[in-house]
Amino acid sequence: MEKKKKVLCVMGTRPEAIKMAPVIRALKQQPWAEVRVLATAQHRHMLDQVLSFFDIEPDIDLNIMRPNQALTALTARLLLELDDVLLSEKPDVVLAQGDTTTVMTAALACFYHRIPFGHVEAGLRTWDMQNPFPEEANRVIAGRLARWHFAPTDSSRQNLLREGMSDADIVVTGNTVIDALLMTASKELELGISLDNTKRLVLVTSHRRENFGEPFRNICRALKMLSERNPDIQILYPVHPNPNVRDVAHEILSDCSNIILCEPLDYAPFIAAMKRAYLIISDSGGVQEEAPALGKPVLVLREETERPEAVEMGVVKLVGPNYQRIVAEAQHLLDDSSAYAEMARGISPYGDGKAAERIVNVLREHFA
Ligand code: UD1
Ligand code: UDP
Repeated sequence: MEKKKKVLCVMGTRPEAIKMAPVIRALKQQPWAEVRVLATAQHRHMLDQVLSFFDIEPDIDLNIMRPNQALTALTARLLLELDDVLLSEKPDVVLAQGDTTTVMTAALACFYHRIPFGHVEAGLRTWDMQNPFPEEANRVIAGRLARWHFAPTDSSRQNLLREGMSDADIVVTGNTVIDALLMTASKELELGISLDNTKRLVLVTSHRRENFGEPFRNICRALKMLSERNPDIQILYPVHPNPNVRDVAHEILSDCSNIILCEPLDYAPFIAAMKRAYLIISDSGGVQEEAPALGKPVLVLREETERPEAVEMGVVKLVGPNYQRIVAEAQHLLDDSSAYAEMARGISPYGDGKAAERIVNVLREHFA
C-alpha cells in the first residue's frame, strides 16, 4: 500500500478548535490520510473544553499560554516550538484555521520549512490593519504564504483575487463553523444556568483587543444602562478570561441584578444559550456566523466587519463599541417587534454544513 500522507492540523484557541473539529473528523475517515493534531494551547481551558466536546486528543501539545500574554512573546515562543514540531513530524501538509497568532506563525514556519500550508477560513478582510488588531495582519500574512485558500464565501474569494492570489488555489467551501453548529445544534443541549423564564434573554460576549480600555468600558456602561432601563430582560454574559476584559466587566457589571456574569460557557451550553436568546450583543467572529443560522439578531460591538454578508442581508448590525448606538439599537429591537422580526429571519450565508468535506476533497485530489 502506498504511504499515507501526513496531515498536521494546528490549533490554538477556542474558535480554531470548533472550526477545525469538522475537518479533523472528515480527515480521519480518509484512508489516504494520517491525521496528526497539534494544540499550541494559546488558550488553555477554553481550548481543552472544545477538544473534549469533539473528542479530539492532541498528538502534540505545546502548552504555550501564559497569563495576559503579550503578542511579541507569544509569536516568538510559537515560532520556535513550531519549528521543532515541523522538523520532527515532517508533515506533507499543514492545515490551520482563521487569524490568530497560532495560525500566522504556523503559516510562517511552514514557509521556512517549504511545507504546503492550507488556510481554512481564508480571505476575510476589513482592509484595515488596526481593526481587528492583530487579526487582519495575521490573516494577510497567512494568506500570502498559503498553498490553498479555503474561502468561506465568494466575497472572501474576491478579496483574495484582489490581493493577487491565483483563482486556481482558491476553493469556496463555506465555513466549517456551520458544520460544527449543525453537528451540535440538533442535539439535546443543556445550558446549565438557571434563567428567569419570564424575561427575554440578551446574550453578550466581548474580547477584541482593539476595544480594550475606554471602548470596552463604554460597552459595559451600555449593558448596565440597558439592564436598568429594562427590568423585563436578563443579560447573560460569559466573560472572556483575558484580564483586560474580565476585570473591567466585573468592576462595572457585577452589582446589576438582572445581569449574570459567568465563566466562558462550554461550546454546547453556549449554543443552547444562543438558541434561547432573544438578542445577541457580541464582537465575536464565530458568533456573527452562527447566530444568523439560528435566526438570532446580532448587534456587533465593532465599527467594521470582515463578515459583511449577514450585515448586507440585514440580520447583523454594526453598532461599534459606542455607548449611545448600543443602547439605542438594542432598545429598538426590544421595543419594536417588526424591526426585530426583520432581523430574526434565520439565514445562513456562511455555509451549508459541508465545508469540511469540500476541504478534504481538495487534498484527496491533490494527493491522488
Ligand atoms: C485570541 C486571538 C483572537 C481570537 C480569540 C478567540 C490572537 C492574538 N488573539 O484572543 O484572534 O479571536 O483568541 O477567543 O491570536 N486566557 C485564559 N484562559 C484561556 C484563554 C485565555 O486565562 O483558556 C487568558 C490568558 O490570560 C491569556 C489571555 O486570556 O494570556 C489572552 O489570550 P490570547 O490568546 O493571547 O488572546 P485572546 O484575547 O484570547
Ligand atoms: N463560544 C463558546 N462559549 C462562550 C462563547 C463563545 O463556546 O462562552 C463559542 C461560539 O459558539 C463560537 C466561538 O466560541 O463558535 C467564538 O469564539 P470567540 O468569540 O472566542 O472567538 P472569535 O470567533 O471572535 O475569533
